[in-house]
Amino acid sequence: MNMHRLYVGWVETRNPTGGSDPISAWNIDSYPGIKFSVLYHCWVLCLNSTYILLLVLVLMLPSVVIGQDNKKDLPPLHHLANVKPPEDMQVAKSFPLNKKGEIDCQTCHGIKDIKDIPFDEVDKKADNFHRGGPYQQLTDFCYNCHKKKDYQPPNIHKLLDKNGKYDKKACEYCHKKAPDPTKDIALKDLKFRLPPQKICFGCHLKTPHLNALEHQVKVDEKMRKRIKQAEQKLNVILPLDSDGKVMCTTCHNPHEKGVIRETKPAGKQVADVSLDEGVSYVEHDWNVVYSADKKDRLQALESENGMTYKLSYQRLKHEVLLRLPAKDGRLCLACHVF
Ligand code: HEC
Ligand code: HEC
Ligand code: HEC
Ligand code: HEC
Ligand code: HEC
Ligand code: HEC
Repeated sequence: MNMHRLYVGWVETRNPTGGSDPISAWNIDSYPGIKFSVLYHCWVLCLNSTYILLLVLVLMLPSVVIGQDNKKDLPPLHHLANVKPPEDMQVAKSFPLNKKGEIDCQTCHGIKDIKDIPFDEVDKKADNFHRGGPYQQLTDFCYNCHKKKDYQPPNIHKLLDKNGKYDKKACEYCHKKAPDPTKDIALKDLKFRLPPQKICFGCHLKTPHLNALEHQVKVDEKMRKRIKQAEQKLNVILPLDSDGKVMCTTCHNPHEKGVIRETKPAGKQVADVSLDEGVSYVEHDWNVVYSADKKDRLQALESENGMTYKLSYQRLKHEVLLRLPAKDGRLCLACHVF
């Protein structure tokens, strides 16, 4: 078994052209706690299909056996320990291996003598609980050893090659037939493999970020008028789905900048960073206030589920694939009056 197998399995189960919608099958909304967890992304990686879950369970079994000289079993589903990294794995320099050249507790955890502390007393919120942390996403921790490339589905938004050319096959991941980007085509005349309001869910969650789910509702007449005005004034499109609901592509342009000419409303987008780098955030001064505000609810959730959650208010640093900038509020103001 290797990462590649995992990855291939993942993509197969998530390919929207396959017609299945694994996200609805595994309804993340019924796990409200998980939504806020740092482990969220790992869960997504691991739990989206039962197949992967089983695979991980089987793969993690050896850790129980190998971990026996640590007197107690590792927590269930824990990563295996006391194994030598394979030759083609580059473990980050700041991750110390033990004398036998294996990964052990101290390789991954910055907490001193973690194996001698009862597991429920370990401070999982400590920055260094995951060595080099805190991490925005748990997967970023994994990439200290595992190759990022092997884990990820193809970034379908990267449509242009070095010469600014594209492969029609890539377009036809979403479109039934690659449309001509020099023409203006109304949304209702485009033919997709899946309805546009569902096309993103093969690879992304319904809740890729706070508030995304809350937005998938029908806009009222007043807001509809406001949107029309904004579209005309700012020469942009903010397309709603066939039921008049907000969808992912209302706010996001799924095409790499340059596929559709920027002078066209459908081509307009904010991209102050490359797709390789992607969206990034910085801690905001308001974080203290925001965390305090959410503290009670989080604590209630924690005691209910026996898990720890991290949630922080952050400010956007770099934006990409957005029809209007959110950093300065222009996107929000196209629909809202605050
Ligand atoms: C390859 C990296 C890695 C190694 C090696 C490793 N851990 Fe972990 N450990 C993790 C990750 C990642 C998590 C959090 C993910 C999770 O909770 O499933 C974790 C979680 C934990 C937790 C908290 C579990 C919980 O949620 O209650 C404890 C305790 C722990 N590890 C102890 C150990 C001990 C003891 C060892 C050595 C025998 C060890 N770990 C080796 C990566 C590692
Ligand atoms: C310190 C390095 C290190 C970190 C960090 C790390 N791993 Fe691993 N991982 C390993 C090693 C070494 C193996 C066993 C060798 C191998 O690939 O066969 C392994 C094996 C695995 C396997 C079993 C697959 C297989 O090929 O047998 C899975 C699944 C896995 N890791 C997931 C994760 C996840 C998820 C994270 C982040 C939460 C993570 N790893 C973080 C080093 C690491
Ligand atoms: C990830 C899915 C996805 C991929 C891949 C994709 N598109 Fe689209 N495309 C959409 C969606 C959704 C719309 C409707 C919303 C919009 O106009 O942005 C659309 C709309 C369009 C339009 C109509 C724009 C207008 O004038 O209103 C054109 C032209 C187009 N795509 C061309 C392309 C080309 C060329 C490629 C390949 C280089 C491509 N698309 C790849 C999802 C995709
Ligand atoms: C084939 C899989 C796939 C499909 C389908 C897909 N995406 Fe993505 N998308 C990715 C990958 C991979 C990335 C890279 C970053 C990541 O891992 O989230 C990404 C990144 C993004 C980003 C963030 C940019 C960044 O790099 O930080 C946005 C926004 C986004 N996608 C929106 C959409 C929307 C809207 C749709 C539906 C029209 C869509 N995606 C469909 C795979 C996909
Ligand atoms: C109301 C507007 C809005 C809607 C609707 C929306 N998003 Fe976003 N999304 C944003 C903003 C703002 C950002 C952060 C800035 C950026 O993308 O450049 C963002 C970021 C993202 C990112 C990058 C997150 C990260 O941290 O790397 C992804 C992926 C994404 N959105 C996917 C989606 C998907 C999939 C949907 C539909 C379920 C969706 N978004 C619906 C506004 C929206
Ligand atoms: C295309 C129109 C549109 C855009 C753009 C948009 N929103 Fe919304 N937003 C809505 C709709 C529709 C609702 C649900 C009805 C309502 O509460 O008015 C909503 C609801 C909300 C809510 C209330 C959610 C809840 O829990 O009830 C917040 C907060 C919000 N939006 C913030 C934002 C922010 C911040 C931005 C900019 C990043 C933004 N919106 C961009 C249409 C939009």
